[in-house]
Amino acid sequence: MAGGVYIFLGPPASGKGTQAVLVSEKLGLPHVAPGDILREAVRGGTPLGLEAKGYMQAGRLVPDDLVISITLERLKRPDCKTGFIVDGFPRTLKQAEALEKSLKDRALAIQGVVYIEIPVDAAIKRLSGRRSCKACGAVYHAVFNPPKVAGVCDKCGGELYQRQDDSEEVIRTRFSVYEKETVPLIERYKKMGKLIEVSGGASVEEVRKMIFSSLKIK
Ligand code: AP5
Repeated sequence: MAGGVYIFLGPPASGKGTQAVLVSEKLGLPHVAPGDILREAVRGGTPLGLEAKGYMQAGRLVPDDLVISITLERLKRPDCKTGFIVDGFPRTLKQAEALEKSLKDRALAIQGVVYIEIPVDAAIKRLSGRRSCKACGAVYHAVFNPPKVAGVCDKCGGELYQRQDDSEEVIRTRFSVYEKETVPLIERYKKMGKLIEVSGGASVEEVRKMIFSSLKIK
């Protein structure tokens, strides 16, 4: 198993989740996405879910302290000992600093920050067709990446559903939050020499090939 830390950065619907899972499967490293952890908490009606729900439905970021605490807690589990793939974290400067401090304490290094870009109109088109598995979180698209049987997850047989924050209005809010809060991180990782820029407009397979080649994954 290869080690190291990989970060997936990009606007909503750029394909971060789709591609992070492919790298995770290939390298045998855990895929950690705060968005998935938060959605599970909302579904379960836990105190975390109750606190996060309003922010998520409005397309705003869940407060830093909460997200940093749940994400770093998850990254302390034994499966993340030699490395992991974080998808949708960090999203603010404060989150980036918290992650970097935690990596330093654990003598782990960032191998690469995969930055996937797409324009807002393409994101709206994609997200209107996105379907996610209620049980395992696998992501499909009604046209671009359909499951074998409509409404049923290929991987676990779970039921597919449409996310509540995938309406056009909320997608536009998520995009502007991304531009204000997350875009500054691109420069940060560029200066660190870690940034790998990929255009997310091509097919899933084409984007996968570009990422694997940039990360030197065979
Ligand atoms: P999160 O779940 O992280 O959502 P997001 O960042 O908006 O990203 P998406 O999941 O929408 O898109 P993606 O880039 O992963 O694309 P995907 O692969 O699914 O966050 C949701 C909310 O949680 C936030 O708004 C916030 O409230 C909260 N939150 C999460 N993290 C937080 C943090 N760090 N701090 C604070 N709050 C946080 O693909 C999208 C669709 O396109 C799918 O249908 C897929 O099949 C399809 N597709 C993918 N690639 C292609 C391709 N190349 N061609 C055609 N279709 C494609």
